[in-house]
Amino acid sequence: EKAGYKHFMAKEIAEQPVVLADALKHYTSARGTLELPEALSFKGIDRVTLVACGTASYACHVAKYWFEQIAGLPAEVDVASEFRYRDPVLSPASMAVFVSQSGETADTLAALRHVKEKVARVVSVVNVPTSSIARESDLALPILAGVEVGVASTKAFTCQLTVLALMALKAAQDRGTIDAATLARRLEDLRALPGLMNAALGLSDPIARIAKDLAKAQDILFLGRGPMFPLALEGALKLKEISYIHAEGYASGELKHGPIALIDAAVPVIVLAPKDALFDKTVSNMQEVMARNGKVLLLSDAEGVETAAQGTWKTLTLPPVAPLWAPILYAIPAQLLAYHTAIAKGTDVDQPRNLAKSVTVE
Ligand code: F6R
Repeated sequence: EKAGYKHFMAKEIAEQPVVLADALKHYTSARGTLELPEALSFKGIDRVTLVACGTASYACHVAKYWFEQIAGLPAEVDVASEFRYRDPVLSPASMAVFVSQSGETADTLAALRHVKEKVARVVSVVNVPTSSIARESDLALPILAGVEVGVASTKAFTCQLTVLALMALKAAQDRGTIDAATLARRLEDLRALPGLMNAALGLSDPIARIAKDLAKAQDILFLGRGPMFPLALEGALKLKEISYIHAEGYASGELKHGPIALIDAAVPVIVLAPKDALFDKTVSNMQEVMARNGKVLLLSDAEGVETAAQGTWKTLTLPPVAPLWAPILYAIPAQLLAYHTAIAKGTDVDQPRNLAKSVTVE
């Protein structure tokens, strides 16, 4: 069942180029157009409200940047357990999007029921098309990741991101905020991801070596900016889930507002920073860490590593990627860091303590 891999998690990490390519093939045409259901129309929609739990909520958090930047559409994100007990001020012209791998998460399902009659459309992004969340939404978009067995979500996360990226492009198309050439280029950039992910999977050995050191840490920080900020949150969640090391993700710019007090030589800081428009800002945050003897692991592309490697503890070089879609690619090294750190610590990767694959209790 594990197809020669030691753990389901390793298998599911490795499957990502293939399942991502499947999802892209399903929702786009070879001519480079979007093939999303008509019912997904964003015409007349004035806002998207994205709701989920855990890893799926971080996918929503990334998508917020996309809906805003690509489609100029206001987007808000909340975790289901808060959303359902708040009195969210919803526009009747809004689209509510529920993201769930299992489609059975109790809080997410309750949140869906909470808004069902109050919004224009309820869309779900699910891995299990027969699930409760899929059945109770107006439209369900399967992420086509295939069965995910490892408790820590990996391939479902990147497939959720892919479907959300396509939704943001559809929103832009429906709202007339993207021209045909830009849309074609963005789709081409998405189609490049499976190949880039294969290259990222090649970092497994160097990551395993770095993980031997990370396994000795008590606390680890992850930093990212823009759409890489939610990926920092996801990297931290993955690591704490399976290695039981305390980890936190922060927006790079928030460092100086508190967490910098934690920095000393014993706290590794993992910086997720492709060479995008905000790279220099992140590098200056990184330098603040190094000035306090912090141990920086920089993940960037060759250009970024060349510019900023000085003074870092270690670097990992990823292939260059369209900055918008970078969280999808950088998810792979984030997952591998968690995986190999857990292996180095000898914890149960596929069945971490206290966790269940599907959280059907509130
Ligand atoms: C983390 C993880 C959880 C789930 C969360 C939501 O690796 O797996 O945080 O993402 O419990 O589950 P679903 O997506 O099934 O609603």
